[in-house]
Order: sequence, then structure tokens, then C-alpha cells
Amino acid sequence: MELVKFPATFDEFHFEFIATSLRGGSLLFTRYKDKSFCIQITKKKTDFLIKADKLTRISPVFIMQNALKSFAKLHNLTLSFSNIHTKQNSNRIKEDFGILKDAEYFAKEFKSEKEIWIEVGFGSGRHLLHLAKQNPDTQFIGLEIHKPSIEQVIKQCKIQDIKNILLSSTDARVFMQLLESNRVGKIFVHFPVPWDKKPHRRVIGVSFIKESMRVLKDTGTLELRTDSENYFTYSFETLQTFQNYEIKIRKNHNLNISSKYEDRWKKMEKNIYDIIITNSEKSPIRKVYENLTFEKEVSFSKVKENFTQSHIKGDDYFVHFEDIYEVDKNQGFIKLSLGSYEKCEHKYLLFKDNKVQYFPSISLPIEQNYKSHQKIKEFLYV
Ligand SMILES: C[S@@+](CC[C@H](N)C(=O)[O-])C[C@H]1O[C@@H](n2cnc3c(N)ncnc32)[C@H](O)[C@@H]1O
Repeated sequence: MELVKFPATFDEFHFEFIATSLRGGSLLFTRYKDKSFCIQITKKKTDFLIKADKLTRISPVFIMQNALKSFAKLHNLTLSFSNIHTKQNSNRIKEDFGILKDAEYFAKEFKSEKEIWIEVGFGSGRHLLHLAKQNPDTQFIGLEIHKPSIEQVIKQCKIQDIKNILLSSTDARVFMQLLESNRVGKIFVHFPVPWDKKPHRRVIGVSFIKESMRVLKDTGTLELRTDSENYFTYSFETLQTFQNYEIKIRKNHNLNISSKYEDRWKKMEKNIYDIIITNSEKSPIRKVYENLTFEKEVSFSKVKENFTQSHIKGDDYFVHFEDIYEVDKNQGFIKLSLGSYEKCEHKYLLFKDNKVQYFPSISLPIEQNYKSHQKIKEFLYV
């Protein structure tokens, strides 16, 4: 089978150009309405393997599924194997109705006159939806990294006509760094994954608590609810490094609403622990990092000459140059990861017309990304 000549359009999908890595894989840059993403194409002996590119995966997922189908139809491909489940598609939402916002929106545009409450890892959304209905004058922000849960809550917001919820799929540990200081009334972290074997993945940690205290108004609260005694003890100990807060502890206290996980633990007759921390100081304003963009022109062919797979390690940040993909001598991608060790970002640098930008989106303006960005500029501007 031969690939068609790009650019090519099928249905509403615009397959713009294909970039090939020195190591053999290819990325097909694709646009659908105002969204852009890549499809990975790997040539096998007699056929092709096509799949969603993880780094540029978009939501709702049906867009990516339809893009793969359109690609197959454009090439008159006979599918020898497909794991696209059309049955599941009927439950998928077709748009996010402006409820799901990206991290850049919260870093730059988000404004609200209302009191703000945040729920971290809302899962099925029972607690978040209940609170939003009970408190129509409060602006809720729900954070969740599990995409099907996000789609479920968007659906419920539409069905129940709830207008005071915005959602983000940004990791809560990064998200808190994006908000203004002294703005938030309550932060809920209910039944976080305990990660006993991989504690670095826990939501609760020194930097999360530090940033939560900064965004909380004085008298604002951070509420942790857990069934894990181990996580409770760990969180309590982590809090000892902080001052200027009050701490309240409860055991087996019933709330007005029981979440899906809470029901599960109650059925198993597990104890449920609450730690409620009340902030008691006004924090300094957030340090704003300049836009992480590239102002100078960059020649892709020169960058390609200098490229090697390499690591740059800083005290609390790193850059890992992973791979380079070429469209032609002026155009291509570099695949890299950057930012904090705790929560790094995986990105492409997209080179086109002597300009370079992060793809699919700009790296977030947080401290560790800013430091990594300076190192990337040093590499590109030689
Ligand atoms: C055990 S579930 C609890 C869900 C819900 N709070 C409940 O009580 O039913 C934990 C949820 O946290 C989400 N999660 C884990 N790490 C997260 C992070 N760093 N940022 C945001 N959400 C996260 C998971 O995807 C999962 O849905």
C-alpha cells in the first residue's frame, strides 16, 4: 500500500503533512475544526499500523477514532485488526460545551467574581455535581486526569443544566501553580489514589500543599478524605513542615453526599478519615513567568545537524531530547520531555517557516518549565 500525497482531506479531517523519524516512525499532522493532533504511522512488512499519537491525544476521544477511520477510508484500507469500539461511541459526548478548559485558559484567561471551590480527582463526579447544585453562586473547578470521568461529568452538567462547573484534565499538582493567590474558598481531595508503592505519584505532597495554601484565601480550607490509614498518616506528617494553618481531624464523619468510592469503602466497613486544614495567612501574589515562546528564528536543518538524544538535568527540572522527525529540510518535529521530575510534560517542538513552537500546546508557565525552556532556547539558538 502507498500513502496518498499530503495534504489530503477526508470528511472533515485535514491530513496536512507527514514527518518521519530517523528511527522509522512517522507522524501525520492532522486538523479537525480548531483542533490539531498527530496520527502515528508505522510501516510493517506488508501493512501499516496506525494509531493515535499519545502526546497529542485530544478530547473527546471520538474525534481521534473518526480520524483513524477517515485515514483508513482515504487509503481504501482493509482493516486487518482494529480496536476502535464503535459500540462505546454511542455513549461518547460529541463536544465539551465550553465546560472542559485547557491549562492555558486557567493560567491566562480565567476570571471569576464568584467564590471558587476546587475538587481534585472528582471521579464519577457525585460530590462535585451535588455541591455545584447546592451552591449556585460558587464557581466550581473539577480536576481529573481520567478522561471518561470528565466526559461523564460534562454529560451530567448538560442533563442537569448545571452552569457553575468548569473542568480541567491537568494534573492537580501542576494546576495549583496556575491560579492567583488568595482566591479559593475550598479545595477537596476525596479518596485520592494512595500509591503506596509509587509515593511520588501521590497528589498530596509538599509542593501541592504549598501551592494549595497560596491559592486559598485566609480562612480557606483544604479537605482530605481517605479510607487509607497509611495515606492519612503520611499526609498528617507532610503537613508538619507547614505553619500558619489550623488542622482538624475527623473519623467516620458522614457528609451530605457519599461518593462512589466512599460507598465502596463503607460497604467494606473501612474507617474514613478527614484532615481539614484552614489557612490563616494572606499569601504574596503569584510569581508570573513570561510566556514560554520562542522569539528568534530557528533553522530546522541546523537544529537537525546538532541533534542528539540527550538529557539536561537541573536541581528541580530537566530536559530530555528524545527524537527528531523530518518533513523536509525546513520543517519537522523534535519530541522531548521537560519540566519537574515530579510531573513532567511531554511535547513536540514544531518547526515551520523558521519558527518554532510547542505542540500541541505551549508549555505551562510554571517555574520548572520556565527553567527547562531556557535550556531548550540555549540548544536551539546556537
Ligand atoms: C480513587 S478515585 C476517587 C474518585 C472520587 N473522588 C470518589 O471519591 O469517588 C481517585 C481519582 O483521582 C484521579 N487522580 C489521580 N491523580 C490525580 C491528579 N494528579 N490530578 C487530578 N486527578 C487525579 C483519578 O483519575 C481518580 O479518578
